[in-house]
Amino acid sequence: MATLSLFLLLAGASAAPHSAAAQSCNSVADGYTCFPSIARNWGEYAPFFSLAAESTISPAIPESCDITFVQALTRHGARYPTSSKNTKYKALIEEIQSNATSFTGEYAFLQTYNYSLSSDVLTPFGELEMYQAGIKFYTRYESLARDHVPFVRSSSSERVIESSEQFNAGFQATKEADRKANRKQTAPTINVVLEETTGFNNSLDPSTCTNFENSETGDDATDTWAAVFVPPILARVEKNLPGMSFSTTDIIYLMDMCSFDTVARTADASELSPFCALFSEAEWVQYNYYQTLGKYYGYGGGNVLGAAQGVGFTNEVIARLTQKAVQDDTSTNHTLDASSATFPLDAVLYADFSHDDGLEPIFFAMGLYNSTAPLSNTSVESVDQTNGYSAAWSVPYSARAYIEMMTCQNHKQPLVRVLINDRVIPLHGCAVDSLGRCTRDDFVQGLSFARQGGNWAACFT
Ligand SMILES: *[C@@H]1O[C@H](CO)[C@@H](O)[C@H](O)[C@H]1NC(C)=O
Ligand SMILES: *[C@@H]1O[C@H](CO)[C@@H](O)[C@H](O)[C@H]1NC(C)=O
Ligand SMILES: *[C@@H]1O[C@H](CO)[C@@H](O)[C@H](O)[C@H]1NC(C)=O
Ligand SMILES: *[C@@H]1O[C@H](CO)[C@@H](O)[C@H](O)[C@H]1NC(C)=O
Ligand SMILES: *[C@@H]1O[C@H](CO)[C@@H](O)[C@H](O)[C@H]1NC(C)=O
Ligand SMILES: *[C@@H]1O[C@H](CO)[C@@H](O)[C@H](O)[C@H]1NC(C)=O
Repeated sequence: MATLSLFLLLAGASAAPHSAAAQSCNSVADGYTCFPSIARNWGEYAPFFSLAAESTISPAIPESCDITFVQALTRHGARYPTSSKNTKYKALIEEIQSNATSFTGEYAFLQTYNYSLSSDVLTPFGELEMYQAGIKFYTRYESLARDHVPFVRSSSSERVIESSEQFNAGFQATKEADRKANRKQTAPTINVVLEETTGFNNSLDPSTCTNFENSETGDDATDTWAAVFVPPILARVEKNLPGMSFSTTDIIYLMDMCSFDTVARTADASELSPFCALFSEAEWVQYNYYQTLGKYYGYGGGNVLGAAQGVGFTNEVIARLTQKAVQDDTSTNHTLDASSATFPLDAVLYADFSHDDGLEPIFFAMGLYNSTAPLSNTSVESVDQTNGYSAAWSVPYSARAYIEMMTCQNHKQPLVRVLINDRVIPLHGCAVDSLGRCTRDDFVQGLSFARQGGNWAACFT
């Protein structure tokens, strides 16, 4: 309820012409727009922003088509640093406060900055992002949402559970305000929690692929790139904080603080952290690319076992699209997936919730970024060069993929299409039309990598 009243407060404020911050930071349709050029370069620490304007194909539901099925896959909202990072950030700032001999200009705030961030859970702004994600889901799929609630599965960490709950609340509040909605329906609830404990088969956040868990490809790639872009920044920061001698990682941590402090500072993230001003626009582009490399070589196409992690969920999506039992021997839990209580095949709305590192492998297992060539570790590639792939474009906070199925006039077969953060991603592996779609059967046929179990065997050899 705290978030609901917060939302109403902000929604009310946005009606007033002078409350620019609340208005521009909280538009349900557009996501976060407070500081677009800088915040869109925070990699996976970027607040959700819509890519509708960047979508070559209109994200609108095509004319003469009815949506018959939606699978949403959503990352949790903005959070505090993880507890291990929390310790490191705090130690670094305290070290600066005890070692640096002068604090001037843009660095002055550091002398008295009180590091008091919580850890692991959502910030109030992160809750709001997820509440808005629920509103947006209801609104986009109103024709189905009036009469149905999503079947909801959540990975078990507290921030993901909390995100699912906020999404459900946003969905339900919108439904209650919809005069045409079916009043007899109960509110959505979390139907299944997939445990993030060792040995549990969790298709939303696998941890059972041994060789993947030991992989260092992502770290190697980011280390290579950091050695290129960090040194000039490090030299400047040391010059401004005499008495300090920083490591490359320290500089990355200071850059991380810009986002973490902004998303924690106010409930709508409308106040930019003073950490942000320590770095230039060009440096944010370099930092963003650092995060992109971490995802691509850590969890995506650049890691031989990246896509393997997403095979289980992809096979679950195939089961849902075709209403046939799950065929999978990778990360799915057979007990859960064999029961209609925990894995129904007849729902029309599905909503699953996980982490950035859960979503990335699924996108790659589905081949959504198959037109992206291996990323350079030594120079920045723009989203034009990567064909739309980046950490911030794929897995910002509250990132959401929609897998839609539709029936359309003049088409015998149902069509499938995928949007990531409102950008239509033309499908691969099937005969794709000008709206990015394939027939369901052709799409499923094209998911041969997942249907064959991917390269899961390589997890153990
Ligand atoms: C730092 O913040 C914490 C938590 O808000 C507060 O308890 C503490 O008094 C603050 N310390 C200073 C020196 O302002
Ligand atoms: C599968 O799910 C069931 C039901 O939640 C659970 O008891 C079991 O431990 C899980 N097994 C694995 C291997 O994930
Ligand atoms: C980037 O670095 C990773 C990790 O070392 C490596 O696997 C990959 O081949 C490199 N990419 C390119 C394009 O050289
Ligand atoms: C801070 O000073 C201590 C004691 O002189 C030193 O050990 C440490 O390396 C310094 N830290 C940094 C980041 O410069
Ligand atoms: C868990 O996954 C493994 C494959 O990685 C499979 O052999 C096992 O049967 C699964 N257990 C359950 C309960 O689904
Ligand atoms: C994407 O590329 C991988 C690697 O070449 C391939 O195995 C997979 O089948 C492709 N996926 C689709 C959907 O085209």
